[in-house]
Amino acid sequence: MNFTVLTIFPEMFQLFRAHGIIKRAIERNKISVSTINIRDFAEGRHQVTDDRPYGGGCGMVMKPEPLAGAIRSAKKKSPDSITIHLTPQGRVFNQKVAQQFALYDGLILVCGRYEGIDERICQDFIDDEISIGDYVLTGGELASMVLIDAVARLIPGVLGGVDSAEKDSFSDDLLEHAQYTRPGTFEDKNVPEVLLSGNHKKIEEWKLETSLIRTFLKRKDLLKNRLLTEQEIEILKKWCLDIEKIIHSQPLRSTNALSGSQ
Ligand code: ADE
Repeated sequence: MNFTVLTIFPEMFQLFRAHGIIKRAIERNKISVSTINIRDFAEGRHQVTDDRPYGGGCGMVMKPEPLAGAIRSAKKKSPDSITIHLTPQGRVFNQKVAQQFALYDGLILVCGRYEGIDERICQDFIDDEISIGDYVLTGGELASMVLIDAVARLIPGVLGGVDSAEKDSFSDDLLEHAQYTRPGTFEDKNVPEVLLSGNHKKIEEWKLETSLIRTFLKRKDLLKNRLLTEQEIEILKKWCLDIEKIIHSQPLRSTNALSGSQ
């Protein structure tokens, strides 16, 4: 997968490329992360990339000519790529969108600054618009890094374990199960015994149950979207029964006491 980032701040990507899983993936030729400086395609001695908006208003707008030049150059180098504009007006990025992007040969990421980019570029040069959330950043560079990071780890061979990405939170509308590492006891709290038991079936059941309970408590909306397996339905039914037992074991109270009135 070739990620080509179009930006007026290419230096921002030096550190991003130089660490962790992204660095290793580049070294192993699983991905490439290159930058094109939009300023290199700007005319004149000062190579200006922005200008005042037509119709007035505050802030500056990124000029179309340097952007068009930079996108054409990127397309030439990576013709099978799609061109994505990072903007708070785009569709909101999530794990499913990351999975779709991971299927492409390359992504050209256009980073706007200031009040945005000239509309004619959006209409004629951009295939997709992506926002990383409902808040406004000072530019698309951090959003690009978020997108690259999330997509790169889905490329086969980028993560260590064969199935690490498949078991991610969100990949199947379930949050990932709880995780523990050594020591077995930390400040009087023990690792759940089942994880030390060596019983793989029980461990898998425990993982599924903690996944379900986390999703239920933290992200009920995900659970509503999910087609539950029979095993998951059984676990949920067991909870229902347990909750009913707790409720029914409560001493009888008068209606007044239940409603909290004196
Ligand atoms: N540029 C500015 N804010 C952004 C956001 N929320 N997502 C993507 N790109 C942006």
